[in-house]
Amino acid sequence: MTTSFAPSGLHQATSPLGTTAGYMPGFGNDFETEALPDALPQGMNSPQKVNYGLYGEQLSGTAFTAPSHQNERTWCYRIRPSVKHTHRFQKIDLPLWASAPNVDPDIISLGQYRWDPIEHSKEPRTWLTGMRTMTTAGDVNTQVGMASHVYLVTQSMVDAYFYSADSEMLVVPQEGRMRFCTELGIIDVEPQEIAILPRGLVYRVEVLDGPCRGFVCENYGQKFELPGRGPIGANCMANPRDFKTPVAAFEDRDAPSTVTVKWCGQFHETKIGHSPLDVVAWHGNYAPCKYDLRTYCPVGAILFDHPDPSIFTVLTAPSGVEGTANIDFVLFRDRWMVAEDTFRPPWYHKNVMSELMGNIFGIYDAKPKGFIPGGMSLHNMMLPHGPDKIAFEGASNADLQAEKLENTMSFMFETRFPQHLTSFAAKDAPLQDDYIDCWADIEKKFDGTPGKK
Ligand SMILES: [Fe+2]
Repeated sequence: MTTSFAPSGLHQATSPLGTTAGYMPGFGNDFETEALPDALPQGMNSPQKVNYGLYGEQLSGTAFTAPSHQNERTWCYRIRPSVKHTHRFQKIDLPLWASAPNVDPDIISLGQYRWDPIEHSKEPRTWLTGMRTMTTAGDVNTQVGMASHVYLVTQSMVDAYFYSADSEMLVVPQEGRMRFCTELGIIDVEPQEIAILPRGLVYRVEVLDGPCRGFVCENYGQKFELPGRGPIGANCMANPRDFKTPVAAFEDRDAPSTVTVKWCGQFHETKIGHSPLDVVAWHGNYAPCKYDLRTYCPVGAILFDHPDPSIFTVLTAPSGVEGTANIDFVLFRDRWMVAEDTFRPPWYHKNVMSELMGNIFGIYDAKPKGFIPGGMSLHNMMLPHGPDKIAFEGASNADLQAEKLENTMSFMFETRFPQHLTSFAAKDAPLQDDYIDCWADIEKKFDGTPGKK
């Protein structure tokens, strides 16, 4: 494998298949990649001496003894061991990036909430200073639950790096293009794509085309995995080959640098004299990836009724209870609606899970007005919700021809835990105070006459 020089200044391996430059296809594969020839030891992990004077180091994403189908680790061969990439720590404040438990007794999380898109500040914001937590659930200290954030990023991190010991980060861009320069390679993302950054992975975030806005699900628990398809079979929904993991890339650069670590909900800063993105070669199955949501193959009703939204699950992060996710990541994309004699939008319901939605672009069928691109909504645990008056009347009286829902892409972070609003979400973010009024005009239609519809 030869080396090339990536735009960000990292030495990058070429794609082994030459299909998508810089990425390897597959979800959770046992990958191997090297940015210099023969940098990767073959047949063993810890040779007495590694080529090029590299240090061998394992990054364990699961307990050593996790079952084989869940066990994830990656062997890195790097210029310096990670212990040289941190020094003494100093606590810093990033007050708008909150972690669970974060329950403010003065804030009412019980309610149906919706927000307009959060506007960018005039001050430049990085990945760290531009993160705004909307909700938290569970407990970061016991590694259960999640947080939802909106990022508002206008400035690249320069000689600054970050990792979260608390969480896996699922990034859902809504505006602008970003580059994640990680220890294990480079990922570029744009709207309609997502990126997944594993717990403990060091990276720097650069703005390719700003301003950048999007959503983050910070997963405190077990990693995201592909949902079981059950009777659907071996294909459709999210297919493993459409996930792309970057090839190795490294930089050998000495410069005063800062590494920020999120650990048990607190932020810590440490100063070093070089870039920590120095992994020349690696192999393993614990790695970042990206996924193009446009490759998600939706499956749905082809005769009547509206299936549960779990049919649109892209990724699921299990909890300890079988079939009850710590987090489901669910996608509502363009698709055909063909069900006969059916109320086609989502039905009215109450749910033991709590549902946080975001609009990437277009119009969501259950809320034709008010849920706008960049906006979010929260329907918390056991709070009733469903179509607004406009959606109900339209869908109840529509001439049910085959119809394609177009110009639409929304998503849901659904968790088994109640979500608590942050002070920012309740007081500073553009909350739509009148959201609940979208159901106000729904009138009683009951008529006890036999045969009446
Ligand atoms: Fe719902």
